[in-house]
Amino acid sequence: MKLKLIIGMVTLSLAATVLAVNEPAIIPQPQNLTRLEGAFKLAADTRIYTDSASVATGKFLAAQLRKSTGWRFRISGKPASDSKITDGILLTTKGAAARLGAEGYELAVSSNAVIVRALTPAGLFYGVQTLLQLLPPEIFSPVALNNIDWQIPCVKITDAPRFQWRGLMLDVSRHFFTKDEVKQMLDAMALHKLNTLHWHLVDDNGWRIEIKKYPKLTSIGAWRDGVGFGLPTNSTTAYGPDGRYGGFYTQKDIREVVAYAQQLHITIVPEIEMPGHSLAALAAYPEYGSGPGPFIIPLKGGINPGILSPAKEGTFEFLENVLTEVFALFPSKYIHIGGDEVPKGPWKKDEACQALMRREGLKTEEELQSWFIRRIEKIVNAHRKTILGWSEILEGGLAQNAAVMDWIGGGREAASQGHDVVMTPTASCYFDYYQSRNRSTEPYSIGGFLPLQRVYALEPIPAGLAPDQQKHILGAQGNIWTEYIPNLKHVEYMAFPRLSALAEVTWSPKEARNYDSFLRRLKTNEQRLDQLGVSYRPSALGDGVAELKIGGWKPEQIKAEPAAIEWDVTAKVTNAGKVSVNFNQTAGAQGINVAWAALLEDGKEISRDTHAGFSGSADVRPRRPDYALNVPVPKPGAQYTLRAQVVGNGGTDSQGDVCWFSVPPAKK
Ligand code: ACM
Repeated sequence: MKLKLIIGMVTLSLAATVLAVNEPAIIPQPQNLTRLEGAFKLAADTRIYTDSASVATGKFLAAQLRKSTGWRFRISGKPASDSKITDGILLTTKGAAARLGAEGYELAVSSNAVIVRALTPAGLFYGVQTLLQLLPPEIFSPVALNNIDWQIPCVKITDAPRFQWRGLMLDVSRHFFTKDEVKQMLDAMALHKLNTLHWHLVDDNGWRIEIKKYPKLTSIGAWRDGVGFGLPTNSTTAYGPDGRYGGFYTQKDIREVVAYAQQLHITIVPEIEMPGHSLAALAAYPEYGSGPGPFIIPLKGGINPGILSPAKEGTFEFLENVLTEVFALFPSKYIHIGGDEVPKGPWKKDEACQALMRREGLKTEEELQSWFIRRIEKIVNAHRKTILGWSEILEGGLAQNAAVMDWIGGGREAASQGHDVVMTPTASCYFDYYQSRNRSTEPYSIGGFLPLQRVYALEPIPAGLAPDQQKHILGAQGNIWTEYIPNLKHVEYMAFPRLSALAEVTWSPKEARNYDSFLRRLKTNEQRLDQLGVSYRPSALGDGVAELKIGGWKPEQIKAEPAAIEWDVTAKVTNAGKVSVNFNQTAGAQGINVAWAALLEDGKEISRDTHAGFSGSADVRPRRPDYALNVPVPKPGAQYTLRAQVVGNGGTDSQGDVCWFSVPPAKK
């Protein structure tokens, strides 16, 4: 029987199961894809035709194809008419529809020609990425393979991204990654049509970018006395010749990485943290600090005291000089200036800062922080750049032209006021969090729980944002903070497949998203990552919830007054140690408030954790509280019970799961 498959965007999700076998495994899912009969067969004599705007993309394609096929493809000027192409691949900017925009493309594959059309080189590049994904995954092999049938199924695709900011943040301060390692991440990003690398270049634990005017930033600020964070010395290779931990990029290295990223149509946005998270800078130049110090590079993360002083003119001169060198290296419109987690204690105790506040009529240290950011904004704007800062830059009033990176809120508020926003909410975008509830099977991590499905479910537009302000949501990015991620393989494990999910969130139309279809396509994507040597976490490992669930709650157990709910956990109490109990609402509009959770041995309470926790959908951020309990050496024959005091949060329709998992001993 001859089966002709016409897959439109709408029918795709409805008929997903039927068509699974024939579904091209493209991630992110294109806007519009029609599968046609037949295939184009790539051969040693296949030509690549380009016009002048697509020569670079043509060379990129030929180089990629050469690695795995072993064939040296000829690149020729475009023939006079598209219809003359009977044996090749045409990349062209001619005749592309205006609606494709800055990054869209059209891809038509027939049995004798492949045509990629776009208005821009970026669009052509994304068309080529899709073309590569239509080939067998072995097309990403680093060495030539002989026995592969290099077929491209016939399709017609029209595609363009939903959001303009599709990103990854990489923290190279807590742990250092070499320029070649950063390039490997850029390659994996390009495969997913991601276009922004936010490079977290400085923090308390290390300064990683050469600044010619301030050589001590790297001679002192790039090195610390050990790997830190309680990690073993051999978990990383980033040691200097004298055996100290660290490293930095020379300006030549930075130029090389920026140029490499440009070829992949990735913009690198540098981050220079201020006025907090600045200990590495202050270890080198303590004269710009608030208070007497000492300013020592710490071996731990968190919020460290030691912040820049806004009461010294020298601080602004220093920062302007640093930023001037940074601007010369990065073509990006944005400079990320941090602004998060500034401990206010040092400014409170600093008489010069207090005098400045009186002089400027600033009532709180939050207002002083805004004053600081506004001064920086003037400097940045004078260099024709735009500042981007974490949520906290909203605290004492937002600078005039600033864009906000929302990690703990403020995105909707900033967008409502007409500011541009990038969404990186902790609950959906913190890729340093655990991928499984079962921590005992995962590498030690900073905490949290962010399973693949939750990343996939992210809606970047905050609920309640007026339609005319939604254009201010530029997109979203995954953040990889590296306190407990000391090597590249581990970065890759935390990034993938969650970054594959985020690529689809930020590129594909909302209505084209389908988690089951994504998981099927992910299987093929994992084969691509195998070829590329990327150490992803296999999706088959799951999120651990089913194994760790001890029970749940139903609406009939939830009351308007506080009431205790109990679960038998005897089977779970097998050895002494710390456990965490998690309350995860799965259905209901209202949610529950938890007051405490306790462990009982034969009816007698032996451990309790008391703190207010909410499980449900609050604002745009779902919350799922954890409670920590101490488990004793089990007494033979004893019965163990988990008891929690719970009350409905304005309603009693809540339903959810309770998970129980052991917590590995903490690292320092
Ligand atoms: C942050 O995670 N401190 C932005």
